[in-house]
Amino acid sequence: MPYYTPLRYPGGKRRLVPTVTRLLEENKLKDVHYAEPYAGGAAIALALLLEEYASVIHINDLSRPVFAFWHSVLNNTTDLCSRIEKTKVTMREWQRQRAVYENRDSAALDDLGFAALFLNRTNRSGIIDGGVIGGKEQTGEWGVDARFGKPELIQRIRKIGRFGSRIRLYQMDALDFTKTVIANLGKSGFAFYDPPYIENGQDLYLNNYTIDGHRELSHEVAKLEVPWVVTYDYSAVRHGLYPRCRRVAYGLSYAANGRHEGKEVMFVSRNLSLPKDWLRSEPFLMSAPVVRSSKKAVVYGMMERMRPRPEMIEGPQAGERFIGALKTVLKVPKSAVPVPFKKPTLKGKRPTTRKG
Ligand SMILES: C[S@@+](CC[C@H](N)C(=O)[O-])C[C@H]1O[C@@H](n2cnc3c(N)ncnc32)[C@H](O)[C@@H]1O
Repeated sequence: MPYYTPLRYPGGKRRLVPTVTRLLEENKLKDVHYAEPYAGGAAIALALLLEEYASVIHINDLSRPVFAFWHSVLNNTTDLCSRIEKTKVTMREWQRQRAVYENRDSAALDDLGFAALFLNRTNRSGIIDGGVIGGKEQTGEWGVDARFGKPELIQRIRKIGRFGSRIRLYQMDALDFTKTVIANLGKSGFAFYDPPYIENGQDLYLNNYTIDGHRELSHEVAKLEVPWVVTYDYSAVRHGLYPRCRRVAYGLSYAANGRHEGKEVMFVSRNLSLPKDWLRSEPFLMSAPVVRSSKKAVVYGMMERMRPRPEMIEGPQAGERFIGALKTVLKVPKSAVPVPFKKPTLKGKRPTTRKG
Protein backbone atom coordinates (compact mmCIF):
# COMPACT_ATOMS: atom_id res chain seq x y z
CA MET A 1 0.00 0.00 0.00
CA PRO A 2 1.80 3.18 -1.11
CA TYR A 3 1.89 6.33 1.01
CA TYR A 4 -0.14 9.05 -0.66
CA THR A 5 -0.43 11.55 2.18
CA PRO A 6 2.42 13.90 3.09
CA LEU A 7 1.24 14.06 6.73
CA ARG A 8 2.08 11.63 9.51
CA TYR A 9 -0.66 10.89 12.03
CA PRO A 10 -0.59 8.91 15.26
CA GLY A 11 -2.98 6.02 14.66
CA GLY A 12 -3.30 7.03 10.98
CA LYS A 13 -5.77 4.81 9.20
CA ARG A 14 -3.74 4.03 6.06
CA ARG A 15 -3.70 0.33 6.88
CA LEU A 16 -7.49 0.21 6.80
CA VAL A 17 -7.58 1.13 3.10
CA PRO A 18 -8.04 -2.56 2.07
CA THR A 19 -10.88 -2.86 4.60
CA VAL A 20 -12.71 0.11 3.10
CA THR A 21 -12.14 -0.99 -0.50
CA ARG A 22 -13.42 -4.44 0.48
CA LEU A 23 -16.63 -2.90 1.84
CA LEU A 24 -17.07 -0.78 -1.28
CA GLU A 25 -16.61 -3.81 -3.54
CA GLU A 26 -18.91 -6.01 -1.47
CA ASN A 27 -21.63 -3.37 -1.77
CA LYS A 28 -20.93 -2.66 -5.45
CA LEU A 29 -20.25 0.99 -4.66
CA LYS A 30 -18.30 2.58 -7.49
CA ASP A 31 -17.17 6.15 -8.11
CA VAL A 32 -18.26 7.12 -4.63
CA HIS A 33 -18.48 10.62 -3.23
CA TYR A 34 -16.38 9.86 -0.20
CA ALA A 35 -16.29 12.05 2.91
CA GLU A 36 -13.89 12.17 5.86
CA PRO A 37 -15.16 14.57 8.54
CA TYR A 38 -11.96 14.15 10.62
CA ALA A 39 -9.52 14.11 7.73
CA GLY A 40 -6.15 14.72 9.41
CA GLY A 41 -3.73 13.16 6.92
CA ALA A 42 -6.70 11.97 4.79
CA ALA A 43 -4.84 8.71 4.21
CA ILE A 44 -7.88 6.69 3.16
CA ALA A 45 -9.54 9.46 1.16
CA LEU A 46 -6.41 9.95 -0.95
CA ALA A 47 -5.94 6.24 -1.55
CA LEU A 48 -9.55 5.92 -2.73
CA LEU A 49 -9.21 8.92 -5.03
CA LEU A 50 -5.84 8.05 -6.51
CA GLU A 51 -6.82 4.41 -7.00
CA GLU A 52 -10.11 5.47 -8.62
CA TYR A 53 -12.56 4.06 -6.08
CA ALA A 54 -13.86 7.59 -5.44
CA SER A 55 -14.79 10.15 -8.04
CA VAL A 56 -14.78 13.01 -5.52
CA ILE A 57 -13.45 13.24 -1.97
CA HIS A 58 -14.72 15.68 0.66
CA ILE A 59 -12.09 16.26 3.33
CA ASN A 60 -12.86 18.25 6.45
CA ASP A 61 -10.83 19.17 9.50
CA LEU A 62 -11.67 21.76 12.11
CA SER A 63 -8.03 22.42 12.98
CA ARG A 64 -6.83 25.62 11.26
CA PRO A 65 -3.22 24.36 10.78
CA VAL A 66 -4.44 21.11 9.18
CA PHE A 67 -6.92 22.99 7.00
CA ALA A 68 -4.20 25.51 6.04
CA PHE A 69 -1.88 22.70 4.96
CA TRP A 70 -4.49 21.16 2.63
CA HIS A 71 -5.44 24.61 1.39
CA SER A 72 -1.82 25.22 0.33
CA VAL A 73 -1.58 21.80 -1.32
CA LEU A 74 -4.69 22.48 -3.39
CA ASN A 75 -4.38 26.20 -4.08
CA ASN A 76 -0.64 26.95 -4.01
CA THR A 77 0.97 23.66 -4.95
CA THR A 78 3.97 25.14 -6.74
CA ASP A 79 4.80 27.65 -3.99
CA LEU A 80 4.50 24.99 -1.31
CA CYS A 81 6.84 22.65 -3.19
CA SER A 82 9.46 25.31 -3.81
CA ARG A 83 9.29 26.27 -0.13
CA ILE A 84 9.94 22.64 0.82
CA GLU A 85 12.86 22.51 -1.59
CA LYS A 86 14.48 25.74 -0.36
CA THR A 87 13.99 25.40 3.40
CA LYS A 88 16.86 24.01 5.46
CA VAL A 89 15.59 21.56 8.04
CA THR A 90 17.43 22.77 11.14
CA MET A 91 16.56 23.55 14.77
CA ARG A 92 16.63 27.24 13.98
CA GLU A 93 13.97 26.70 11.28
CA TRP A 94 12.00 24.52 13.68
CA GLN A 95 11.91 27.45 16.17
CA ARG A 96 10.75 29.77 13.38
CA GLN A 97 7.94 27.43 12.27
CA ARG A 98 6.97 26.79 15.85
CA ALA A 99 6.48 30.58 16.27
CA VAL A 100 4.16 30.63 13.23
CA TYR A 101 2.21 27.75 14.75
CA GLU A 102 1.92 29.58 18.11
CA ASN A 103 0.25 32.35 16.14
CA ARG A 104 -2.10 29.91 14.38
CA ASP A 105 -5.32 31.87 14.76
CA SER A 106 -4.08 34.83 12.73
CA ALA A 107 -1.09 33.58 10.65
CA ALA A 108 -1.51 33.74 6.85
CA LEU A 109 -2.90 30.44 5.54
CA ASP A 110 0.13 29.64 3.37
CA ASP A 111 2.59 30.30 6.20
CA LEU A 112 0.52 28.25 8.60
CA GLY A 113 0.13 25.43 6.06
CA PHE A 114 3.88 25.19 5.66
CA ALA A 115 4.42 25.37 9.43
CA ALA A 116 1.93 22.52 9.92
CA LEU A 117 3.77 20.34 7.41
CA PHE A 118 7.20 21.27 8.81
CA LEU A 119 6.22 20.46 12.42
CA ASN A 120 4.32 17.34 11.43
CA ARG A 121 7.43 16.00 9.67
CA THR A 122 9.96 17.09 12.29
CA ASN A 123 8.09 16.26 15.52
CA ARG A 124 7.91 12.90 17.21
CA SER A 125 5.02 10.78 15.88
CA GLY A 126 3.90 13.68 13.70
CA ILE A 127 2.27 15.49 16.61
CA ILE A 128 2.17 19.11 15.42
CA ASP A 129 1.98 20.36 18.99
CA GLY A 130 4.65 17.94 20.23
CA GLY A 131 8.42 17.69 20.77
CA VAL A 132 11.05 17.67 18.04
CA ILE A 133 12.69 14.44 16.83
CA GLY A 134 16.08 14.11 18.58
CA GLY A 135 15.13 16.61 21.31
CA LYS A 136 15.86 20.36 21.47
CA GLU A 137 19.55 19.63 22.09
CA GLN A 138 19.54 17.21 19.13
CA THR A 139 21.27 14.53 21.14
CA GLY A 140 18.90 11.71 20.13
CA GLU A 141 19.61 8.90 17.68
CA TRP A 142 17.69 10.68 14.91
CA GLY A 143 17.97 14.31 13.89
CA VAL A 144 15.28 16.92 13.17
CA ASP A 145 15.40 16.15 9.43
CA ALA A 146 15.07 12.35 9.76
CA ARG A 147 11.49 12.26 8.38
CA PHE A 148 11.73 15.20 6.00
CA GLY A 149 12.54 13.46 2.71
CA LYS A 150 12.11 16.42 0.35
CA PRO A 151 11.83 14.66 -3.05
CA GLU A 152 9.24 12.22 -1.74
CA LEU A 153 7.15 14.94 -0.05
CA ILE A 154 7.21 17.11 -3.17
CA GLN A 155 6.24 14.19 -5.36
CA ARG A 156 3.24 13.34 -3.14
CA ILE A 157 2.07 16.96 -2.99
CA ARG A 158 2.35 17.42 -6.77
CA LYS A 159 0.38 14.25 -7.35
CA ILE A 160 -2.43 15.38 -5.01
CA GLY A 161 -2.38 18.81 -6.70
CA ARG A 162 -3.06 17.11 -10.05
CA PHE A 163 -6.26 15.59 -8.60
CA GLY A 164 -7.28 18.94 -7.06
CA SER A 165 -10.46 19.38 -9.14
CA ARG A 166 -11.86 16.24 -7.48
CA ILE A 167 -11.06 17.28 -3.90
CA ARG A 168 -13.41 19.46 -1.84
CA LEU A 169 -11.92 20.96 1.31
CA TYR A 170 -13.81 22.20 4.39
CA GLN A 171 -13.01 23.55 7.84
CA MET A 172 -16.13 22.75 9.83
CA ASP A 173 -17.09 21.06 13.04
CA ALA A 174 -17.73 17.42 12.18
CA LEU A 175 -21.28 17.57 13.49
CA ASP A 176 -22.19 20.47 11.16
CA PHE A 177 -20.33 18.78 8.32
CA THR A 178 -22.45 15.67 8.92
CA LYS A 179 -25.71 17.60 8.81
CA THR A 180 -24.91 19.82 5.84
CA VAL A 181 -22.46 17.95 3.60
CA ILE A 182 -22.68 14.22 4.33
CA ALA A 183 -26.46 14.16 4.67
CA ASN A 184 -26.65 15.56 1.14
CA LEU A 185 -24.08 13.37 -0.61
CA GLY A 186 -26.81 11.39 -2.36
CA LYS A 187 -26.85 7.82 -3.59
CA SER A 188 -23.14 7.48 -4.25
CA GLY A 189 -22.12 8.89 -0.86
CA PHE A 190 -19.93 7.09 1.67
CA ALA A 191 -18.53 8.44 4.93
CA PHE A 192 -15.58 7.35 7.04
CA TYR A 193 -15.42 8.80 10.56
CA ASP A 194 -12.18 8.70 12.52
CA PRO A 195 -12.92 10.97 15.48
CA PRO A 196 -10.30 11.76 18.14
CA TYR A 197 -9.77 8.91 20.57
CA ILE A 198 -12.04 8.95 23.61
CA GLU A 199 -9.16 7.93 25.88
CA ASN A 200 -5.54 9.12 25.51
CA GLY A 201 -6.42 11.34 22.56
CA GLN A 202 -6.01 14.66 24.36
CA ASP A 203 -2.42 15.46 23.40
CA LEU A 204 -2.27 14.00 19.92
CA TYR A 205 -4.27 16.55 17.91
CA LEU A 206 -7.15 18.98 18.31
CA ASN A 207 -9.63 17.29 20.65
CA ASN A 208 -12.35 19.24 22.42
CA TYR A 209 -14.65 16.29 22.86
CA THR A 210 -16.38 15.09 25.97
CA ILE A 211 -18.21 11.76 25.94
CA ASP A 212 -21.48 13.70 25.48
CA GLY A 213 -20.04 15.24 22.30
CA HIS A 214 -19.22 11.77 20.98
CA ARG A 215 -22.74 10.64 21.88
CA GLU A 216 -24.35 13.62 20.14
CA LEU A 217 -22.33 12.85 17.02
CA SER A 218 -23.39 9.19 17.14
CA HIS A 219 -27.08 10.19 17.12
CA GLU A 220 -26.55 12.33 14.03
CA VAL A 221 -24.50 9.65 12.25
CA ALA A 222 -27.14 7.00 12.99
CA LYS A 223 -29.70 9.13 11.11
CA LEU A 224 -27.68 9.19 7.88
CA GLU A 225 -28.97 7.45 4.80
CA VAL A 226 -25.55 7.21 3.16
CA PRO A 227 -23.49 4.20 4.25
CA TRP A 228 -20.87 4.95 6.86
CA VAL A 229 -18.12 3.50 9.01
CA VAL A 230 -16.94 4.92 12.35
CA THR A 231 -13.68 3.93 14.02
CA TYR A 232 -12.83 4.47 17.69
CA ASP A 233 -10.56 3.34 20.45
CA TYR A 234 -12.21 0.39 22.15
CA SER A 235 -13.55 2.46 25.03
CA ALA A 236 -16.39 3.49 22.68
CA VAL A 237 -17.87 0.04 23.34
CA ARG A 238 -17.59 0.47 27.11
CA HIS A 239 -19.35 3.84 26.76
CA GLY A 240 -22.17 2.16 24.83
CA LEU A 241 -21.83 4.17 21.62
CA TYR A 242 -23.65 2.79 18.54
CA PRO A 243 -25.32 0.02 20.59
CA ARG A 244 -27.36 -1.37 17.70
CA CYS A 245 -24.58 -1.48 15.12
CA ARG A 246 -22.53 -4.39 13.93
CA ARG A 247 -18.97 -3.90 15.04
CA VAL A 248 -15.52 -5.25 14.31
CA ALA A 249 -12.75 -5.15 16.93
CA TYR A 250 -9.26 -4.95 15.51
CA GLY A 251 -5.66 -4.41 16.54
CA LEU A 252 -3.75 -1.50 15.12
CA SER A 253 -0.32 -0.64 16.42
CA TYR A 254 0.47 3.03 16.52
CA ALA A 255 3.51 4.97 17.63
CA ALA A 256 2.84 7.88 19.92
CA ASN A 257 4.64 8.31 23.24
CA GLY A 258 6.11 4.82 22.76
CA ARG A 259 4.66 1.76 21.02
CA HIS A 260 1.16 0.53 21.69
CA GLU A 261 -1.03 -2.17 20.34
CA GLY A 262 -4.28 -0.27 20.39
CA LYS A 263 -7.47 -2.25 20.36
CA GLU A 264 -9.90 -0.35 18.22
CA VAL A 265 -13.41 -0.83 17.01
CA MET A 266 -15.18 -0.16 13.75
CA PHE A 267 -18.96 0.36 13.70
CA VAL A 268 -20.68 -0.27 10.40
CA SER A 269 -23.97 1.23 9.19
CA ARG A 270 -26.91 -1.14 8.78
CA ASN A 271 -27.25 -0.58 5.04
CA LEU A 272 -23.82 -2.11 4.31
CA SER A 273 -23.46 -5.82 3.53
CA LEU A 274 -20.42 -7.41 5.10
CA PRO A 275 -18.06 -9.83 3.34
CA LYS A 276 -18.89 -13.45 4.24
CA ASP A 277 -15.49 -14.17 5.81
CA TRP A 278 -16.15 -11.38 8.32
CA LEU A 279 -19.21 -13.24 9.60
CA ARG A 280 -17.50 -16.48 10.52
CA SER A 281 -16.82 -15.55 14.16
CA GLU A 282 -13.08 -16.01 13.78
CA PRO A 283 -10.34 -13.45 13.10
CA PHE A 284 -10.02 -12.21 9.53
CA LEU A 285 -7.34 -10.20 7.79
CA MET A 286 -8.15 -6.50 7.47
CA SER A 287 -4.94 -5.34 5.80
CA ALA A 288 -2.31 -6.89 3.61
CA PRO A 289 1.01 -7.52 5.38
CA VAL A 290 3.28 -4.50 5.19
CA VAL A 291 6.99 -5.05 5.66
CA ARG A 292 8.08 -2.31 8.02
CA SER A 293 11.44 -2.34 9.81
CA SER A 294 11.59 -6.06 9.02
CA LYS A 295 8.37 -6.73 10.98
CA LYS A 296 5.16 -7.65 9.27
CA ALA A 297 2.48 -5.24 10.40
CA VAL A 298 -0.87 -6.92 9.91
CA VAL A 299 -4.30 -5.93 11.18
CA TYR A 300 -6.73 -8.66 12.17
CA GLY A 301 -10.38 -8.03 12.88
CA MET A 302 -13.14 -9.97 14.54
CA MET A 303 -16.89 -9.44 14.49
CA GLU A 304 -18.19 -8.96 17.99
CA ARG A 305 -21.47 -9.90 19.61
CA MET A 306 -23.27 -10.43 16.31
CA ARG A 307 -22.18 -14.03 15.90
CA PRO A 308 -24.50 -14.98 13.06
CA ARG A 309 -25.89 -18.47 12.73
CA PRO A 310 -25.65 -19.74 9.15
CA GLU A 311 -29.30 -18.89 8.48
CA MET A 312 -28.61 -15.24 9.35
CA ILE A 313 -26.05 -14.78 6.59
CA GLU A 314 -26.99 -11.82 4.45
CA GLY A 315 -28.00 -12.25 0.86
CA PRO A 316 -31.00 -13.13 -1.33
CA GLN A 317 -31.81 -16.29 0.69
CA ALA A 318 -32.31 -14.15 3.80
CA GLY A 319 -34.94 -12.13 1.92
CA GLU A 320 -36.73 -15.29 0.73
CA ARG A 321 -36.75 -16.73 4.26
CA PHE A 322 -38.24 -13.49 5.59
CA ILE A 323 -41.04 -13.52 2.97
CA GLY A 324 -41.78 -17.21 3.77
CA ALA A 325 -42.07 -16.43 7.49
CA LEU A 326 -44.33 -13.45 6.76
CA LYS A 327 -46.68 -15.60 4.63
CA THR A 328 -46.98 -18.14 7.46
CA VAL A 329 -47.87 -15.41 9.94
CA LEU A 330 -50.51 -13.92 7.61
CA LYS A 331 -52.20 -17.33 7.21
CA VAL A 332 -53.18 -17.39 10.92
CA PRO A 333 -56.79 -16.07 11.29
CA LYS A 334 -57.17 -12.94 13.40
CA SER A 335 -59.77 -14.59 15.68
CA ALA A 336 -57.18 -17.23 16.68
CA VAL A 337 -54.93 -14.62 18.24
CA PRO A 338 -55.86 -13.73 21.85
CA VAL A 339 -55.84 -10.04 22.71
CA PRO A 340 -54.05 -9.98 26.07
CA PHE A 341 -54.85 -6.45 27.28
CA LYS A 342 -58.44 -6.08 26.13
CA LYS A 343 -60.83 -5.06 28.95
CA PRO A 344 -63.51 -7.74 29.60
CA THR A 345 -66.99 -6.42 28.71
CA LEU A 346 -69.37 -6.35 31.68
CA LYS A 347 -72.43 -8.46 31.05
CA GLY A 348 -74.51 -7.46 34.07
CA LYS A 349 -75.44 -3.95 35.33
CA ARG A 350 -72.72 -1.96 37.05
CA PRO A 351 -73.25 -1.68 40.86
CA THR A 352 -74.05 1.94 41.75
CA THR A 353 -72.67 1.94 45.33
CA ARG A 354 -69.40 0.67 46.71
CA LYS A 355 -69.42 -1.93 49.39
CA GLY A 356 -67.46 -1.50 52.64
C1 LIG B 1 -7.81 10.80 14.67
S1 LIG B 1 -7.38 12.23 13.75
C2 LIG B 1 -7.75 11.71 12.11
C3 LIG B 1 -6.60 10.95 11.47
C4 LIG B 1 -6.88 10.52 10.03
N1 LIG B 1 -7.95 9.55 9.96
C5 LIG B 1 -5.65 9.92 9.39
O1 LIG B 1 -5.59 8.71 9.13
O2 LIG B 1 -4.73 10.69 9.14
C6 LIG B 1 -8.65 13.30 14.15
C7 LIG B 1 -8.67 14.65 13.38
O3 LIG B 1 -9.91 15.30 13.69
C8 LIG B 1 -9.72 16.69 13.80
N2 LIG B 1 -10.81 17.19 14.66
C9 LIG B 1 -10.87 17.18 16.02
N3 LIG B 1 -12.07 17.64 16.43
C10 LIG B 1 -12.79 17.92 15.33
C11 LIG B 1 -14.11 18.37 15.12
N4 LIG B 1 -14.93 18.66 16.11
N5 LIG B 1 -14.55 18.52 13.84
C12 LIG B 1 -13.73 18.22 12.79
N6 LIG B 1 -12.45 17.80 12.93
C13 LIG B 1 -11.99 17.63 14.19
C14 LIG B 1 -8.33 16.85 14.37
O4 LIG B 1 -7.79 18.10 13.98
C15 LIG B 1 -7.58 15.65 13.75
O5 LIG B 1 -6.91 16.05 12.58
